Amino acid sequence: MAILPIIIAPDVRLKAICKPVDAVDDAVRTLMDDMLETMYASHGIGLAAAQVGSDKRVVVIDMSKPEEPADPLYMANPEIIWVSDDDAAREEGCLSLPEQYSEVVRPTAIRVRYLDRDNEIREFEAEDYMAVCIQHELDHLDGVLFVDHISALRRNMILRKLTKIKKLEAEAVAV
Ligand code: NI
Repeated sequence: MAILPIIIAPDVRLKAICKPVDAVDDAVRTLMDDMLETMYASHGIGLAAAQVGSDKRVVVIDMSKPEEPADPLYMANPEIIWVSDDDAAREEGCLSLPEQYSEVVRPTAIRVRYLDRDNEIREFEAEDYMAVCIQHELDHLDGVLFVDHISALRRNMILRKLTKIKKLEAEAVAV
């Protein structure tokens, strides 16, 4: 396994529409394992392939608490096949938008279908934070970030802040 660099917004690679995998083969499994290791190293709970520069529709999630055993969820070609009528606003963050948080309104429950790490079709219903996390990660596969769900004013404020941080970091490296 390997820890991959995480792409920080704003970046055109985070706006791409990702491509379905033909099957979950060894190459996809390696990508999943690397993504999971990268996510754990950054203390994240979800990561989409686009965030590490891959154009595959692949997501990893682990919502277990630090004191609990790891409980990784591997998804290829995930699709939301049902959403609840009721919505809720919850605070979201993203490894590609470090230290930035905002409330996002989404359906409170969903049903998702995907290929697991063994290329088996799986389906389950999720609610609350798991539903938020799945919707957030699936958005990444279509080039959508959580800031795309909030007001343009607040989105631009966050992206300007990140642009400034990236510029400062690039200058620091150059010195
Ligand atoms: Ni994210």
